Amino acid sequence: MSDQELAINGGPKVREQPWPERLQIDDREVEAVMRVMEAAKKGNPFERYGGVEVDTFEQEFAAAIGTKFATAVSSGTASIHTALGALRLDAGSEVICAPITDPGAIMPVLWNNCVPIFADSYEDNFNMDPASIPALITDQTRAIVCGHITGCPCDMDAILEIARKHDLYVIEDCAQAHYGRYHDKLLGSVGHIGCFSLMSGKHTTAGGQGGMVVTDDEELYWNAKRFADRGKPFNSDAPGNLFLGMNYRVTELSAAIGRVQLEKMPAITQARRDYVAAFEAALAKEEVVCCEPVPLHAEGESAYWFGTLLFHADRCTKTMAEYGEAVAAEGVPVGGSYAGALVPVAQWINDMQTYGQSREPWTSPHWKGDISKLNYAESVPQALKCVEQVMRYSVHECQSPADAEDMAKAIGKVDRACRK
Ligand SMILES: Cc1ncc(COP(=O)(O)O)c(C=O)c1O
Repeated sequence: MSDQELAINGGPKVREQPWPERLQIDDREVEAVMRVMEAAKKGNPFERYGGVEVDTFEQEFAAAIGTKFATAVSSGTASIHTALGALRLDAGSEVICAPITDPGAIMPVLWNNCVPIFADSYEDNFNMDPASIPALITDQTRAIVCGHITGCPCDMDAILEIARKHDLYVIEDCAQAHYGRYHDKLLGSVGHIGCFSLMSGKHTTAGGQGGMVVTDDEELYWNAKRFADRGKPFNSDAPGNLFLGMNYRVTELSAAIGRVQLEKMPAITQARRDYVAAFEAALAKEEVVCCEPVPLHAEGESAYWFGTLLFHADRCTKTMAEYGEAVAAEGVPVGGSYAGALVPVAQWINDMQTYGQSREPWTSPHWKGDISKLNYAESVPQALKCVEQVMRYSVHECQSPADAEDMAKAIGKVDRACRK
């Protein structure tokens, strides 16, 4: 049998060795946890107030991203909820959202009794296409939540320009974009508020779950802090709680881990960039025809939560799914789709599964839009196309240049077998 026979057809695999595991935690996090445990033994419980870890984590995070303030919260979803809560939006406000994202970026809009309106993505990149935004703006639009999906920076100048013109807030969802860069700024410091997920799958974690809300705006900062702790009157003389909020506080234990992880953030993201550079160089040598790296659409540097390739169906005898399966069969983690992240087609949102059977906030008298004209699934034609032609590959900081070579070789082998 030829060594060019595809593994999916019973041929030899390009890669037999197991793929490297992602190891996020070392002795430094263990020592940080022990520090908090030792303090707890002496009577300081894990409580956020009165401790040092959460306060310090917030200050260090703000300094690392380049904002004046940061509020630690318990998840990325909580960070988006807190950012929206800080804006004190009226019920029935419209919020322009990323179409390809985690539901954790959309559900908080609904929990704020606001209506999500989806921007479209580019056809060849998961991020929101600013050109799709102006037509969506109504007199109820108040904010844009843009997601730097995969870690790739959104076109912030264009988004901020639209926001300025229509007096909108811009929230950057940096869940997948730790230490991503837009021009000379880190993502999260470009819009009015930046939100981070610190769950374990992300570049850095605060012990499995966590989030952060960053801003330069002092009023938004205090509102975020208040919202994340049931409206407590921080920085206020009010005798009681100020407004509706949640309890999204984090513990000293999470913050101690998060602080170590924060120190690692630049190196983690740089290692991912180095991996992608090595992979793209190796892929160029393979002279593949059926796919190519996805274009950025903005000046900056991705943080590469994962990598993406644009598939050209017209150049290939296989579909993207078949091509991906054939590459994966060669022993490398390439080929997954991100179609599951296309929220406008998700069943729950189209069935308006929110507050019981009420279909709030779409049925609320506060929302002036027309529910009969709302068709989320059909509102994002470019995003529908995008998820059909962009495939994923694994990127993490424990992958080496040799892994990048194997990944490119596997793609090259499949590509030669099925190009038209
Ligand atoms: C773009 C995006 N936004 C928000 C979230 C929600 O973050 P969390 O899972 O920490 O709640 C995620 C999580 O995967 C995400 O990828």
